[in-house]
Amino acid sequence: TDEVEWWDYDDAAEMAGAVAGDIAFIIESAIDARGGAVIALAGGKTPMPIYEKLSQTKLDWKRVTIVPGDDRIVPLGDPLSNVTAIGKIFIPKGARVIPLISEAAKDYKAAGKAADARLGDLHWPLDLCLLGVGADGHTASIFPGPDYDEAVNGPKERRALGVMPDPLPAEAPVPRVTLSLSAITTARALMLAVTGDAKRKVIETAIKQGPASTYPIGRVLADAELPADIHWAP
Ligand code: 6PG
Repeated sequence: TDEVEWWDYDDAAEMAGAVAGDIAFIIESAIDARGGAVIALAGGKTPMPIYEKLSQTKLDWKRVTIVPGDDRIVPLGDPLSNVTAIGKIFIPKGARVIPLISEAAKDYKAAGKAADARLGDLHWPLDLCLLGVGADGHTASIFPGPDYDEAVNGPKERRALGVMPDPLPAEAPVPRVTLSLSAITTARALMLAVTGDAKRKVIETAIKQGPASTYPIGRVLADAELPADIHWAP
């Protein structure tokens, strides 16, 4: 458990303000230190209030590159698209956004290869990877399924890959492109934002299980090169 630090909040609104402030600090520090920031942002519902707050922050956004930590293989503009949902709330003027899904790839593995190539010219490691966690312990789009092993044990230099979760998640029953485990765990700052007791219990169990965790988030936390900050609200 020394790999993580829990930050508890009274409610999701308080968490959103605090996490947005942390992200802004990380971005400013990266710009000061390296001239720019590359950040990966989670999809799903939990982080949207964070992005709302972040959109009100004055930063040198033209020095910031934003990538979704994962996305569903649907056209841009589709309600299931993470980069579309994030963009509706927050794509600050001047920031560079690299969608993981850009064209209707012929299959999910090809979509993953195209995304990996597109991320190839970004400075690595990520300055920040903000993750959500599903009730089943998935994070980004690292789910149980035929591609789980590729996502967690594939070549270290691979940044993104296509995956077919099995079972397909009810909230978005489509294949995905996800950052790989190594892209996530090498981030200079790893933050999780979760709400609700059920997810807290999943994460606490995952930490206890360590690298052999049955939850993908357990594997992420066990492999993380730096301690992760877990932001939680009831
Ligand atoms: C996705 C997300 C995913 C998300 C979790 C939690 O594409 O679905 O990136 O990893 O973080 O599913 O989603 P909620 O915040 O909506 O519970």
